[in-house]
Amino acid sequence: MKRELTRIENKKIIYFKSIASTQEYAKKIAGKSSSGTVVVAEKQTKGRGRFEREWYSQRGGLFFSVILKPQVEPRKIPVLTYKMALAVMDTIRKVLAQYPGQNKVYTAALKWPNDVVMVKRSRRFGRDPDFPSGNEGRETKYKKIGGILTESSINKNKVDWVIVGVGININNKIPVSLKNTAVSLRKITFDNNISLTGVFNTIMANFEKYYTDFPDTKTLAEYKKNSIFFRAGAEKIAIDFGGNEYTGRASGITDDGGLEIMLSGGIKKIFYAGDVVLY
Ligand code: BTN
Repeated sequence: MKRELTRIENKKIIYFKSIASTQEYAKKIAGKSSSGTVVVAEKQTKGRGRFEREWYSQRGGLFFSVILKPQVEPRKIPVLTYKMALAVMDTIRKVLAQYPGQNKVYTAALKWPNDVVMVKRSRRFGRDPDFPSGNEGRETKYKKIGGILTESSINKNKVDWVIVGVGININNKIPVSLKNTAVSLRKITFDNNISLTGVFNTIMANFEKYYTDFPDTKTLAEYKKNSIFFRAGAEKIAIDFGGNEYTGRASGITDDGGLEIMLSGGIKKIFYAGDVVLY
């Protein structure tokens, strides 16, 4: 990425109290908007995540979509998701640092391809009913705090626009059906009311740094370093791709953001999408 070509030129913010989806709105205006335009909403009535899943979007959460016009090869678009994931992760860590007790126990990390999760730093802190470890279920070693949805328009192998949509559980309640797999920043910080504006501004400042000053190779290295699949002694993972389940160990991230897995049978396979769980 050439620095001068990818700088966020315009930081116009379009703000809604309520909207169906910031992502849908951003897609409608992307063609005529300049790079850096951000659509933010206090709540969404039709928020959506990957694979057209519903994204729970009650007031108290943070919901926004950033319109970008980067001069990058289309195959490199996933790297933009990782830049945003890092920006969100850094922001959550910064907030958490203000709560030293909790900061010792939890940290934010990344789950390929688009999740920001909370994990316990170490099991020596004992059993926590909110984050059971060990044999209590493979979905419970981490909890999702935020997700990123990246969509793009490509014409003749040239990127017209990319929209990076971000949803983060901040002060919102987590619905009972998601309590086992999702958590809010408020919950992690002893029920403190977190400033949404503060979190948003920090994410945007962090994102601009990753977007303009961070080469892709460095982004991918940082992403891998902070990914739960590459932790020391990383567990086995299973990926659901096209209705088939593959198991193995994460062995790398490719230069275009694919997840390379050493399958249990000894063959390497690269995935660009899919739902992954840690054993
Ligand atoms: C995921 O984890 O599947 C991605 C979730 C992305 C949700 C955000 S909230 C703001 C923007 N508007 C939407 O409708 N979706 C994204």
